[in-house]
Amino acid sequence: MITKAIILAGGTGTRLSPITKTINKQLLPLFDKPMIFYPLSVLMLAKIRDILIITNKKDINSFSNLFGDGKNLGIKINYMEQKKANGLPEAFIIGEKFINNKSVALILGDNFFYGQGFTKRLSKNKKLTNGCKIFLYKVKNPQDYGTLEIKKNKIDAIKEKPKKSKSGLAITGLYFFDKNVVKFSKKLKPSKRNELEITDLLKVYKKKNKLSYEFMGRGSAWLDTGSPKNLLSTSEFISTIEDRQGLKIGCIEEIAFNYNWINAKQIKKRIKYYGKSEYSNYLKKLFPNV
Ligand code: DAU
Repeated sequence: MITKAIILAGGTGTRLSPITKTINKQLLPLFDKPMIFYPLSVLMLAKIRDILIITNKKDINSFSNLFGDGKNLGIKINYMEQKKANGLPEAFIIGEKFINNKSVALILGDNFFYGQGFTKRLSKNKKLTNGCKIFLYKVKNPQDYGTLEIKKNKIDAIKEKPKKSKSGLAITGLYFFDKNVVKFSKKLKPSKRNELEITDLLKVYKKKNKLSYEFMGRGSAWLDTGSPKNLLSTSEFISTIEDRQGLKIGCIEEIAFNYNWINAKQIKKRIKYYGKSEYSNYLKKLFPNV
């Protein structure tokens, strides 16, 4: 059973410069909340409560101002520094002590997931103790992602940012790994762009016949936050759904309360912390008695 997860929230955000010149990408708004709320809410929905946020040294304070040690959300959050954007698998080397020889999930701080049945999917896959599980999503621009080709129902090739992909299947930024992930990550060599590549790590699992995948269907959304246009359209998506339903996507206090991890007093504290805002009003409306 996976009880631990890493949110990787460092990087340089070059493609969003100048927006990211002084602000960490994962703190940029996706409509009404910082981007990191969404991957954090995914982990919380999966009832993964032991979380490590890895980010740049200069940004640790900003994240810990937002979430503290996690107690206010009924979870545990630790923070660690990544000195340079040396690639995604470095998260497992940095997080070795935190992982403590157990299975672990990794979610990228800039990934947005949404869709019916997603929580169920996570709960099911949390049981992983052996191998690696990834989630695939059909996209129009596979060249921007890690991709997977399938032949006769078997994994054929894994590529990072291929010029062409037959399947058009992108590997999303949510990964479930068994305890061998630290050992395997330490053996990886940097790629041509001088990074440890997550796709190389997946190839190690594939070679051992220990890589499995699931399709995220057409009814779900895995949206991009990589360019200014994407940021805007993902924000619009969130705004549209929230406006229509009157319910918020990625409201971490709501999730914590629904799981009985926090009480009314803690909600009140969060409302006070956020101050007068639409987000606070939403919390007040949900919990009128606090
Ligand atoms: O989003 C899914 C894709 O993420 C996968 O399909 C690719 O296989 C995977 O390599 C990755 O591709 P990206 O080009 O999107 O990775 P990027 O360098 O943009 O990093 C993703 C997030 O992780 C970003 O928010 C910054 C953070 N990051 C990245 C690196 C390389 C770090 O915190 N540290 C790092 O060293």
